[in-house]
Amino acid sequence: MTVSQSAPSLSTTIAGISLETCIYNASGPLCATEEELDVIGKSAAGAILSKSATLEYREGNPQPRYYETSWGSINSMGLPNEGFEYYANYAPKAAAHGKPYIISVSGMGYDDNTKMIEALADNENVAAIELNLSCPNIPGKPQAGYDFEQSRTLLEKVFEVVRLPLGVKLPPYFDIPHFEMMADVLNSFPISFATCINSIGNGLVIDTEKECVVIRPKQGFGGIGGDFAKPTALANVRKFYTLLKDDVDIIGVGGIKNGMDAFEHILCGAGALQIGTQFMREGADCFARIANELQDIMRQKGYSSIDEFKGKLKDMGE
Ligand code: SIN
Repeated sequence: MTVSQSAPSLSTTIAGISLETCIYNASGPLCATEEELDVIGKSAAGAILSKSATLEYREGNPQPRYYETSWGSINSMGLPNEGFEYYANYAPKAAAHGKPYIISVSGMGYDDNTKMIEALADNENVAAIELNLSCPNIPGKPQAGYDFEQSRTLLEKVFEVVRLPLGVKLPPYFDIPHFEMMADVLNSFPISFATCINSIGNGLVIDTEKECVVIRPKQGFGGIGGDFAKPTALANVRKFYTLLKDDVDIIGVGGIKNGMDAFEHILCGAGALQIGTQFMREGADCFARIANELQDIMRQKGYSSIDEFKGKLKDMGE
C-alpha cells in the first residue's frame, strides 16, 4: 500500500460551490442564533448551515425536547427558529467568515416555502438553499418527503421561483420501491443536492426508573439520531447516490462521530458530510477532530482526495 506523506485534501464541491473541507454542521442543533452561527463560522467547518427557517419566528415544542443517550439522541424540537428574515439578514456576517452560507428552509406550506425561496433570489451572500422535506416533529403535520405527490407539487412550485442552487433534505427511507419513487420525483427537477438523512422519525426512548418517556412533546415520540441512525443513513446515501442523476451531489448525515464514520459515508457516495448529534455533544471542535481523523485514514490508505474513494463501495456480487 502506498502511504501518502502530504495532508490529504478534504476539499469538495457541492452544488457547484467549493468547500475547503467537506465536513460541516447539520441543520438541527446549535445553528439557530447569530452567536451559534458565528461559532460554526470560526470553527473548522467547511460551510455554515442555518437552522431550518419558517416564515415567522417559532418557539418550538415544549421542553424538555432533546435527550442524549449513550448511543445517540432523541429530539422533538419542533423547528424553534428566529424566522426567515433573521437568517437572510445574517448572510453578510456569514460571508465575513469566508465560507459558504447555506440556508435551510422549512415552510409550513407551499406558499411559505415559495415566499422564502423567492426572497432569497438576490441574496448574493447565500450560496445555496436546503429545502427541508423531513422534519418529523411538527404535531399534526406529516413529513413532506413521505408523500411523493406532495413533494412533486412543492418542487414544481419551488422551481418556478428559485434562483440559487437548491437541494433537499430527505427523511430516511426503508423500502426499495420508496427509494425509487422519491428518486423519480427528484430526477424530474434540477436539484443540486440531496441530504440524507434527517433523524429517524417517531422513535421512543424510555427512562425505566421513572417508567416515563424522556421528552415532553408528542407523548415522548421524536427523531432518533446518532449511532443507531448510521446504518440507515449509509443505506440512504448509497441508494440515492446510485439512483439520482450524476450531477446531484449527496450529502451524508447520520451517526458521524469519528473519521471512520465519515469515511464510510464518502465510500457510499457522500460528497460532503453534516454533523448533528456529535456537534451537539462535543461542540464545534468536532469538525477539526473528525477532519483530522479522516485525513489519518486517507493517509493510511494512500488517498490524497475524497474523490479517489467517493462512491467506490464494493459489493460482493450475486
Ligand atoms: C426540529 O427542529 O424539530 C428538528 C429539525 C428537523 O428534524 O428537521
